[in-house]
Amino acid sequence: MFMDYRELAKIAVDKLKYSYVPYSRFHVAAALLTKENKVYFGVNIENAAYTPSNCAERTAFFKAVSEGEREFRAIAVAGCREEHLKTPAYLKECLEDFCPPCGVCRQVMREFCDPEEFDIILVRTPDDIKVMKLKELLPESFGPEYL
Ligand code: THU
Repeated sequence: MFMDYRELAKIAVDKLKYSYVPYSRFHVAAALLTKENKVYFGVNIENAAYTPSNCAERTAFFKAVSEGEREFRAIAVAGCREEHLKTPAYLKECLEDFCPPCGVCRQVMREFCDPEEFDIILVRTPDDIKVMKLKELLPESFGPEYL
């Protein structure tokens, strides 16, 4: 049996504090689960020149792929504004809303994951999650098999 998605969601929420977001002050964290039940974390990392900034989901994917991973089951994504991180309650209840992955990150997922299988776990709180298939968030997509 693979890791419970609520557990994965909890890990993502716990990593929000590691985001480097001096410009947007919007924290995002991702927990990427491999088919062998290993978890890679990622946060968004911003830059004074803005465009070099990297999203949490891509940080997690690039960490995993650069460690030799190619098989993924799911990714949990949580996001919240900085003021919410300041209250200890955020771990339980203070994320305002689900934080869906941006289009670029969806395309990076498409490179490595089967759109009909890969689960994207949107996290509002560790107990309030919404699980969607990559195909739902990226229909009619272009992928490696076209080339
Ligand atoms: N961000 C992510 O890390 N993932 C997403 O899917 C949406 C946006 C980051 C990028 C930027 O650092 C901040 O959130 C505000 O856009």
